[in-house]
Amino acid sequence: MQSPAPYPAARMRRLRRTRALREMVQENGLSVGDLIWPVFIRDGEGIEEPIASLPGVSRLSLDRLLPAAEHAHALGIPAICLFPYTAQELRTEDCAEAWNPDNLTNRAIRMLKAELPELMVMTDIALDPYNANGHDGFVVDGQIVNDDTVDALVKMGLAQAEAGADILGPSDMMDGRIGALRAAMEDAGHRDVAILSYAAKFASGFYGPFRDAVGAGARLVGDKATYQINPANREEALACVARDLAEGADMVMVKPGMPYLDICRAVKDRFQRPTFAYQVSGEYAMLMAAAQNGWLDGDKVMLESLMAFKRAGCDGVLTYFAPRVAEALRK
Ligand code: PBG
Repeated sequence: MQSPAPYPAARMRRLRRTRALREMVQENGLSVGDLIWPVFIRDGEGIEEPIASLPGVSRLSLDRLLPAAEHAHALGIPAICLFPYTAQELRTEDCAEAWNPDNLTNRAIRMLKAELPELMVMTDIALDPYNANGHDGFVVDGQIVNDDTVDALVKMGLAQAEAGADILGPSDMMDGRIGALRAAMEDAGHRDVAILSYAAKFASGFYGPFRDAVGAGARLVGDKATYQINPANREEALACVARDLAEGADMVMVKPGMPYLDICRAVKDRFQRPTFAYQVSGEYAMLMAAAQNGWLDGDKVMLESLMAFKRAGCDGVLTYFAPRVAEALRK
């Protein structure tokens, strides 16, 4: 890097003087094409059920999902990611609803691909919305078992691909699931189904509102520390990303986002592959709560927090703000 001339030859404020000058030298940009919108779905009709810990976010029945997705598509949002709120009676220890071809998620995928084929549909692969125990894997004698869970995740992913999903999002953090999913997709002829691996997913406290939203929080016994990454570990996170890319992930994700921007930058620099961050429920809730109290300017911190991901090297961001960002970027 060429260091600036000594003052007064260099005055950094010269290029900050007007809006036009600032725009000319802006290094990073945020655009609607960077956004993936996570949406919570539920059974029923005509339902938009607000989630108290996620102000402005509701669980939508499928008839309400369609207009919401149409709106997102019209705004230019390229992808939406589905998270099901499963009926209580369908949450079992064997998690069989997860790979039911007609479960809520798979019905939503079929509907969206029929009505809005250009909108990319991403899914979540993990057992927590279907598990009596609220964990992402099967629980046997108090342990979360790896290999049997991977077999179940593969069945789940195949059912989603069969329904028409464009992007699979394994969020479970079991070992070996990317390779197993990739091989199963090839075998079944789903060669073009992409995998966006939740590769660097930390055992975070910032997922609280999400667990309310999918109804897994109250059921969860213990925590997810035996499968999600210790927040203190950076090298381990990079090893997980390397492993998932080697097993056939097309894109990788860092999650949560804002407290882990150092990981985003390291992943982009080291691997130079499509890199995403998930601005998770707790991050959204913090910004919304402060804005609702009048302590922060909501639009300003929303855009600033998302620009930070671009500056940290991310190609895109999963964010509950997606439609609001898209509207703000239009102005
Ligand atoms: C579940 C899953 C979680 C999130 C996405 N998929 C929660 C968890 O791991 O407990 C969190 C998303 C958010 O907080 O917004 N496999």
